[in-house]
Amino acid sequence: MSWQSFPKVELHLHLEGAAPPAFIRGLAAEKKTDLSRIFTEDGSYAYENFDHFLTVYEAACTVITTPEDYRRLTLAVLEESAAHGVVYSETFVSPDFCGGGDVGAWRDYLSAMEEAAAEAEAQFGITLKAIVTSIRHFGPEKARAPAICAAETKGAFLTGYGMAGAELVGRPGDYAWSFDCAREAGLHLTCHAGEWGGPDMVADTLRDLAPARIGHGVNAIRDPALVERLAEAGTVLEVCPGSNVVLEATSGGWAGHPIARLRDKGVRVTVSTDDPPFFHTTMTREYEGLERAFGWGAEEFAELNRTALDAAFCDAETKTRIG
Ligand code: ADE
Ligand code: ZN
Repeated sequence: MSWQSFPKVELHLHLEGAAPPAFIRGLAAEKKTDLSRIFTEDGSYAYENFDHFLTVYEAACTVITTPEDYRRLTLAVLEESAAHGVVYSETFVSPDFCGGGDVGAWRDYLSAMEEAAAEAEAQFGITLKAIVTSIRHFGPEKARAPAICAAETKGAFLTGYGMAGAELVGRPGDYAWSFDCAREAGLHLTCHAGEWGGPDMVADTLRDLAPARIGHGVNAIRDPALVERLAEAGTVLEVCPGSNVVLEATSGGWAGHPIARLRDKGVRVTVSTDDPPFFHTTMTREYEGLERAFGWGAEEFAELNRTALDAAFCDAETKTRIG
């Protein structure tokens, strides 16, 4: 069976990381910027490993410069997500790339994205919420401006705050100021952890930053006591199997991916694409991979979506409408 039209909820999608290579090449041409080094001959993104992936990602971001670029990007990404059955999506976006952390400039980018989201909702039937993201490898000091931008512009569209980037830079507690700032503003919180860091990184993230959700979290599997704690606390993991397999954050390919073992232990798992064109994935391909590796079908996928909608950073009215 094809899972393409199966209704899906996606919680973990980086807006710039979802930019199709052709979209970035088009912007590079418009801006007379040579980005040929970040593409393979067949037009895909070219990178060797996770650190290089982050470099290529940031190079692509150098041509997404204006609010209008972000409006077009948001619309293109949502059209593609909707074509794969996604009815509700949350996207990470960083004020570091949208106005350099200046609140006034950030407002213009956010308005452009919100405008695109409204258009996509009307045209493709997909609802989008935004999660402001600090970039961990830019350091704890630089992580503050995005949190302030998020706190100042929280609303029906911008509902969350989180952190992505190179997980092994610093310890979670170094970023507590930013998470506290966002929490005090009433934003929902998530943080990448346990993608590259071990179970200790997941545990310290929960202790020091107290997010409701963990981005990835898959390395928790190495500590049975932590897995039990996650299950008991009902912590939701935003698992991105295709991303983990391609970046080799986990071992053993799809069949060895920990998502099934985490679910079997009672952890609340969800499924997302992370940066789909970088990993040659879509939500349909994620479902196909899970079906092939673990025999999952409509029952398991419906459960993933119920968990995701329950953990979504939107109001109860939106959840009722989507559900
Ligand atoms: N930013 C975009 N994709 C990411 C990932 N998989 N991990 C950390 N930061 C990211
Ligand atoms: Zn991510």
